[in-house]
Amino acid sequence: MHAMVAREPGGPETLTLVDRTVPEPGPGQVLVRTEAIGINFIDTYHRSGVYPMDFPLTPGGEGSGVVSALGPGVDTVAVGDRVAWAASASGSYAEQVLVDAAQTLPVPDDLDAETAAAIPLQGMTAHMLVDGVTRLGPGQTVLLTAGAGGVGLLLTQLAVARGARVITTVSSGSKAELSRAAGAAEVIRYDQFDDLPAELPARVRELTDGDGVQVAYDGVGKDTFDACLASVRRRGMLVLFGGASGQVPPFDLQRLNQAGSLFATRPKLFDYIADPAELAWRAGAVFDAAATGALNVRIGARYPLADAADAHRALEGRQTTGKVLLIP
Ligand SMILES: NC(=O)c1ccc[n+]([C@@H]2O[C@H](COP(=O)([O-])OP(=O)(O)OC[C@H]3O[C@@H](n4cnc5c(N)ncnc54)[C@H](OP(=O)(O)O)[C@@H]3O)[C@@H](O)[C@H]2O)c1
Repeated sequence: MHAMVAREPGGPETLTLVDRTVPEPGPGQVLVRTEAIGINFIDTYHRSGVYPMDFPLTPGGEGSGVVSALGPGVDTVAVGDRVAWAASASGSYAEQVLVDAAQTLPVPDDLDAETAAAIPLQGMTAHMLVDGVTRLGPGQTVLLTAGAGGVGLLLTQLAVARGARVITTVSSGSKAELSRAAGAAEVIRYDQFDDLPAELPARVRELTDGDGVQVAYDGVGKDTFDACLASVRRRGMLVLFGGASGQVPPFDLQRLNQAGSLFATRPKLFDYIADPAELAWRAGAVFDAAATGALNVRIGARYPLADAADAHRALEGRQTTGKVLLIP
């Protein structure tokens, strides 16, 4: 079977297609024949060495497919079941993937394989952000960077569904249209600012009667962190959930005091789905919403498995919108 391997930490060119034997599921594992594989920004951190990993590495922690074999002791999943997963371990850029049975998510009958692969990680992240890290409700105004991205489009819809007013940032006119269609009340073109750390908070305060937002969700990180912090109102919260532009340098907590007794957190999804009941609840919520059409899942691009390097180039080059999939 085919799989993509990064032989050493590096750029997208380190990703190589290899032929390898089909793995045997160990205790508690299932073997899945993948139908679609989700690409996430974290895959680029793993590939490039931002997060230390063992190499050679098969990236990927998300996908959907059909169970083809069970490891010893597995009785919660059967051969032939349609499943999806968001796994903390890598290894999903392959035609056949081992998944811990406890991490498999049942795919509703009326959800196609591509949508099922598109939402576990970004969908549950969006869900954790509005219903876990914060509890959004009517009357709240929030700021979200990269509003047309994979997490961004889903988070906007979930926040709007809870009654919040959403302000997003995007870097192009076509991304602005997508963000508006997802429900953003205001879309800011941050690519047009000469001085982003000063101009973005000024624009956000203009849109909020000078107050700022209750919550800023920032997945862009290094380039936007200061601007987001300065956009939050007194006693509000800054949620740093990623670093698409780079990691945020060490931070002096005293700045939270000076900015108005703010809260700051750096959450990761796997701490919000570690409990099996919480995983089932979050997965059920996003899968049901996608199946009924309440949540619109945009698949912005599909690449053959062998072209994973091109997919990484597009994602890191800000060329993508919504979800990017690999098709084995
Ligand atoms: N904490 C968690 O558990 C968790 C889980 C999932 C994802 N995340 C994080 O959430 C963020 C979004 O992930 P995603 O998979 O949905 O990606 P994405 O938003 O689809 O893609 C990243 C977006 O970031 C923006 N961006 C701004 N500056 C950039 C730069 N210098 N290089 C690349 N992109 C830049 C781009 O949008 P514009 O062109 O509009 O600026 C780009 O499209 C990432 O930081 C990811 O690590 C965190």
